[in-house]
Amino acid sequence: MEKAEKYWSVKAAAQPGAAPRAIAFSGAINTDRLRLRRLGESDAHTITRLVSDWEVSKQTISIANPYTLNEAHKFIRNGETDWQDGTQYVLCIERRTDNCLIGTISIQIYRKWGRRYGEIGYWAGREYWGKGYTGEAIEPFLVFCRSTLGLKTIDAKVFAENEASLRLLKRAGFREVTRKTEHLPHRGGRRKVVHLRHKSK
Ligand SMILES: CC(C)(COP(=O)(O)OP(=O)(O)OC[C@H]1O[C@@H](n2cnc3c(N)ncnc32)[C@H](O)[C@@H]1OP(=O)(O)O)[C@@H](O)C(=O)NCCC(=O)NCCS
Repeated sequence: MEKAEKYWSVKAAAQPGAAPRAIAFSGAINTDRLRLRRLGESDAHTITRLVSDWEVSKQTISIANPYTLNEAHKFIRNGETDWQDGTQYVLCIERRTDNCLIGTISIQIYRKWGRRYGEIGYWAGREYWGKGYTGEAIEPFLVFCRSTLGLKTIDAKVFAENEASLRLLKRAGFREVTRKTEHLPHRGGRRKVVHLRHKSK
C-alpha cells in the first residue's frame, strides 16, 4: 500500500479546471491520535488563546505578538485564499478523542530559479507540548506535501535554541543546511537561525 493511502480518509486531488496547484481537500488526514483538517472560522477563539502565549509565538519568525482574535480570523481567511491560489496549505492538528484543536501545520510554497519548493511551519499550544503530537502530525503532512502537492524539496527555518523543533525535524528526516545570524527586530534583534532541508530520495 502507498504510504499516503495509509493516512488519507478522503481523496485529495488537483481540481479539474482549477489553477494547477489548487488542491481539493475537504476531508482530513487521520493518524492514531490526531486528525489534520482544514481550518474554519469557529477555530479562531482557540487559536487566539493558544497563540497569544508568548512562549509559543516567540519561537516562530512571523506570528504577531500580541495576538488578537482579529489576527486569528485573518490567519484563517488568508489560509483559505492561499489554498485556492496554491501559495500556502494550512491544516489544524486536532485530537481525535475530544476534537480539541492542538495547533497548526502549514507549508508555504515558493519558486526560485524556476523550481518550486516548500517551507514548513507549525506550532502547538503549550499545554500539548512533549506528548509527541507534532511528531505524529509531521510524518503524514510530509507525505501530503510530496504526494499531493508534488514538492521535492521542503525547507524549515528554526531558531538555534529551539531544541524541541530541531529534534522534531531531524527525527522526521530533515538535515541541517546552514546556520546564519538574522536581524529580526520583532524577535529581539540578532538571532541565530538554522536552515534545514528534507529532500525526496
Ligand atoms: C516545537 C513544537 C511544535 C514541538 O511540539 P511537540 O508536540 O511538543 O513535539 P513532540 O512532543 O513531538 O516532540 C518533538 C521532540 O522535541 C522534544 N522536546 C519536546 N519538548 C522539549 C523541550 N522543551 N526541550 C527539548 N526537547 C523537547 C521531544 O522529546 C521530541 O524529541 P525526540 O523525538 O527526540 O524525543 C512546540 O514545542 C511548539 O509549538 N513550540 C513553539 C512554536 C514553535 O517552536 N514552532 C516551530 C517554529 S520552527
